[in-house]
Amino acid sequence: MSESIIVSGATKKEKYESLIPQIKALVEGEKDWIANLSNIIAALKFGMDFFWVGFYFVKETGNDKKELVLGPFQGPVACTRIAFGKGVCGKGWETKQTIIVEDVDLFPGHIACSSLSRSEIVVPAFNKEGEVILILDVDSEHLSNFDETDKMYLQQVITIIEGCTN
Ligand code: SME
Repeated sequence: MSESIIVSGATKKEKYESLIPQIKALVEGEKDWIANLSNIIAALKFGMDFFWVGFYFVKETGNDKKELVLGPFQGPVACTRIAFGKGVCGKGWETKQTIIVEDVDLFPGHIACSSLSRSEIVVPAFNKEGEVILILDVDSEHLSNFDETDKMYLQQVITIIEGCTN
């Protein structure tokens, strides 16, 4: 979506600019990880009007392996577990990169939790050792909904999250 398009009286950039300080204030003075992540997800859902937004945690599976497991989210019911390298989320974990998918049907191995999802962005968060600890995943019902503006501001959200944990 172009930044010049006005949605509900505010551009995407204006929405993020208003939201980021609110997210900082929400987690300030609170150390509980799940409480903070839950509030951040609710703030993103209602502040940005995302279709689906949530976290996938990197968790031990018990046999010396790890996988992504669904954490706090807002939106329709979603896939619970995602393997390393699988789907957009697993690819974000594997490559340690933010991934923007303009059309999920064109992304090899995309995992469709909802048939309504058309485009997606995933952003990894890291611990002090540089390992991925979680993936922030955002889905849209519209094609090409995410761009460098989302990447920049969602990475700021990730920095706030990393500050809560490290
Ligand atoms: N589409 C994601 C799966 C998670 S849902 O979108 C909530 C993927 O391909 O990894």
